[in-house]
Amino acid sequence: MNTRTNRKSPIVLIASISLLLLLAILGSIYYKYEVVDEKNQAVENHSNKSETDAESDEGADPNLNEPTPTTPVEKPATNENPPQEVVNGYIVGQNPAVDPTYVNGILIVNKKIPLPSTYNKGEDPAAKAAFEKMAAAAKLEGFELVAFSGFRSYEYQQTLYDRYVNRDGKDAADRYSARPGYSEHQTGLAFDIGEKGREDLWLTSEFGESPAGQWLVNNAHQYGFILRYPKGKEDITGFMYESWHFRYLEGDTAKKIHEAGVTLEEYLGIK
Ligand code: DAL
Ligand code: ZN
Repeated sequence: MNTRTNRKSPIVLIASISLLLLLAILGSIYYKYEVVDEKNQAVENHSNKSETDAESDEGADPNLNEPTPTTPVEKPATNENPPQEVVNGYIVGQNPAVDPTYVNGILIVNKKIPLPSTYNKGEDPAAKAAFEKMAAAAKLEGFELVAFSGFRSYEYQQTLYDRYVNRDGKDAADRYSARPGYSEHQTGLAFDIGEKGREDLWLTSEFGESPAGQWLVNNAHQYGFILRYPKGKEDITGFMYESWHFRYLEGDTAKKIHEAGVTLEEYLGIK
């Protein structure tokens, strides 16, 4: 019995050692694939969290802190302009103008092109002289023209616009009264014109049908003036027909515009 036991014991010993070795190898494989993987997963999960989540984790485990980026992350370059929202002809959120805008040497103001609030040169002397010359010619024809509104400051335009908004609402007011910074009256180059004795027609479309209004339509360009907001051109000028609003332009520009039968925007190619 004893002999048999003694003969078999080295085999048992070798088998036991082999078994232990095998278990050790399997154990190390398990550690590599399960425990280390789990740890990596934890790190990955943390870096996927939002900044706020990451902040609330701060101090929990110093090994899981976000890596500090060494180079700033750049957004891909794009040529696309952000979409512009236009309401009643105005670009929503447009930055205030820093400088006045000239196109081919002509000062332009409309719903897309404002003046700086500080643009405050007053009435333009050349425009005023041209009006006086035109009024003298009209008088010879029997019409006494009156420029009942000329230069307006940014602040005064604000008062006027607010008054019209209170009276008619914003959408209606935006069709005939410019918001401050967007009025041609701020240039000192525009006049609202009527006939003395016919104040009932001032600021009405009927004035355009009256003899004095018709005389202006047919002759204003000879003195450097254009009817700035003609009938049927609201989608171009931004404002409804104003039979009374005339804009002075230097040189023969008014004649060219009159002969072409276009608006200032169309003439300058900025429609
Ligand atoms: N009535 C014109 C558009 C203005 O307010 O300037
Ligand atoms: Zn006007």
